[in-house]
Amino acid sequence: MAVDTLLDNRYAIHDHEPSLGEGGMAVIYAGTDTQTDVEVAAKTLLPAYQGDAHRRARFRNEANVLRAVQNPHVVDLVDVIDGRRGTWIVMERLQGESLRDRLKRQGPAKPDAVAGWLTQVAAGLEEMHRRGYVHLDVTPQNIFLGHDGMVKLIDFGIAQEAYRRPQREGDKLLGTATYISPEHGSGRDVTPAADVYSLGCVVFELLTGKKVFSEHDPSNDATIALRQDSVPELPTSIAPELRLPEWVDTVVAQAIMPNPAERYPSATAFAEAFAEKANPPLLKFSWPRRSKPVVTAGGAPTALIDEPVVRPQVTETVPQRNPSRMGAWLRKEWRNTQRALAMFALMIALILGIPAIGGNAIADFTLGFLPGSDTTVVNGNWNLRASANTASEVQAVVQEGDKVQVTGAPKLVGTDLWWPVESGDTSGWVHDDALKRTWLMNRAAGYVETREDIDSIWNTATGWLPG
Ligand SMILES: Nc1ncnc2c1ncn2[C@@H]1O[C@H](COP(=O)(O)OP(=O)(O)O)[C@@H](O)[C@H]1O
Ligand SMILES: [Mg+2]
Repeated sequence: MAVDTLLDNRYAIHDHEPSLGEGGMAVIYAGTDTQTDVEVAAKTLLPAYQGDAHRRARFRNEANVLRAVQNPHVVDLVDVIDGRRGTWIVMERLQGESLRDRLKRQGPAKPDAVAGWLTQVAAGLEEMHRRGYVHLDVTPQNIFLGHDGMVKLIDFGIAQEAYRRPQREGDKLLGTATYISPEHGSGRDVTPAADVYSLGCVVFELLTGKKVFSEHDPSNDATIALRQDSVPELPTSIAPELRLPEWVDTVVAQAIMPNPAERYPSATAFAEAFAEKANPPLLKFSWPRRSKPVVTAGGAPTALIDEPVVRPQVTETVPQRNPSRMGAWLRKEWRNTQRALAMFALMIALILGIPAIGGNAIADFTLGFLPGSDTTVVNGNWNLRASANTASEVQAVVQEGDKVQVTGAPKLVGTDLWWPVESGDTSGWVHDDALKRTWLMNRAAGYVETREDIDSIWNTATGWLPG
């Protein structure tokens, strides 16, 4: 029987099975974290390149960028292993398909679906840009659509620091010609605008099934020159049979402007402009558990509190509080009457606002916890149990005022809601009532904002209300 390669005495790599994918330089195998039994994916240089110092350095760079960028819309790094068998990037194993495979299987997608994907991938890119990096290879193949609707950016193979010249190999620039920005293609400094351009090309293709400047050889110098001074034929005229709405042309054209300064100022600005015109779906989503915390250079993973992030809504698992439970719930959660009243007024405002916001409005505004966020334990001592069940073994007791981290989506057991949390080194489940509530808001496009402190709810929420 074929035997797995064991990395670091921990990750069993199924390298005798067909790979999950293979590019020009690397191969990705399925694997298992034997300590947690969690499935992983492990990427390593193809054997032919293991001895090539330049490529090895680039591969290490890929691991470093991935380590620096953590976001729900960027594939999770689990570990980096350096050993006798070279460098391996161990990642969460994604289940689903790349947008390229989706396109091949299903053909062009509707603007509403594209809006949902775009919003998510833009969030991942934005985080990268905030950290000072550019991806430079945003293509349908490098965007992964999970079975759960979660979209993640993968393949940081040529990612680099922004505001520098793009990398070369000999005299060749690295990148995928079809999606390359004119500044990248001509070797000028690359900024986040380069990724906005490529994202524009991806959106163009997802909508039309055709590539930007599809009539030209994408890798030839004349096409690069063309990108520098002209906008191509736009979606409604290149694919008239699809009857795309006219706004698509304007919104997409701004992403692929030849001059970087004329493009959207950020990936999320592009996504917002698009989502404002379309009706992106609310996503059903269950939060994956991380097998091993990723340690960044600075220590703990970056906290998400108080930073607007884009994330799909947990529509299935967070039940709406019905009015009959509301009174008891408010009394329990907020002993401070003023706060309870503010909350009540907010609910009324939301209800009044619903017709103007649209059909998804109820699901858009949900109280809960943003997975990955810190929250505080309220009302005394609570058992942290091995599973979401009062009969299950107590792992630890958390005290009022303790900080715990919510690690995933909640579970409804009977009428009780339980949340998975980590407290120090212990992980387990606590009853809903144990945690101080975080305000989660989600517009149809999936924009979520958290506020740890209920005091700021009113101001934040009114900012979202129509009119
Ligand atoms: N974490 C993962 N989980 C599952 N499949 C993956 C994962 N990472 C990559 N793949 C698959 O492997 C393919 C190639 O991966 P990628 O990182 O883009 O490699 P390359 O740099 O060679 O293009 C992807 O398109 C995807 O189908
Ligand atoms: Mg790739």
